[in-house]
Amino acid sequence: MGSPAPRSRIEEYISRSENDTLRIARSFAQRLRPGDVIAFYGELGAGKTEFVKGICQYFQVEELVSSPTFTIINQYVGSFPDGEHVVLYHVDLYRVKSPQDLAEIGFGECMATPDSIKMVEWSENADNYLATVPHYTVSIEFSPESETARIIRIAHVQPVEVF
Ligand SMILES: Nc1ncnc2c1ncn2[C@@H]1O[C@H](COP(=O)(O)OP(=O)(O)OP(=O)(O)O)[C@@H](O)[C@H]1O
Ligand SMILES: [Mg+2]
Repeated sequence: MGSPAPRSRIEEYISRSENDTLRIARSFAQRLRPGDVIAFYGELGAGKTEFVKGICQYFQVEELVSSPTFTIINQYVGSFPDGEHVVLYHVDLYRVKSPQDLAEIGFGECMATPDSIKMVEWSENADNYLATVPHYTVSIEFSPESETARIIRIAHVQPVEVF
């Protein structure tokens, strides 16, 4: 028999500019449905917020999408191409490390809203929660090719079942 199938296919894209990242994000956003969670990974300045902006462009969000580093959770209202409204949460956990911090910012309540799309930067800081829900991961890495080149990897992960 062949080797076991990989648990999840990883898509890989090369972005050579901010606009490439926006385009890749808009294209990715086509598959999103109400309730989906997207966990972002990548160093400071990698382009996580830029990718979130692209998702928000797809959903025709009119508010200015900016880094929620100080507000921690931003809420936007957008719409699907068919006009159906959708709430998008943009969470930045850069400074939010402990379970107490997470509770304080209302992370659990935010993630529990069933029909919203949740986008989480610095999602390493919510590993315990993310291990319990299916979600997309978007990992952005600096590429040595040039200052504006990035490698973007997208996967979908399922919670590990514990018996
Ligand atoms: N290919 C690219 N994709 C995305 N951003 C790029 C690219 N090339 C250059 N940039 C620039 O890199 C910066 C990315 O900033 P952004 O705020 O998106 O990073 P971030 O990963 O959210 O960082 P932080 O961890 O501070 O939140 C922007 O200034 C953007 O113009
Ligand atoms: Mg950011």
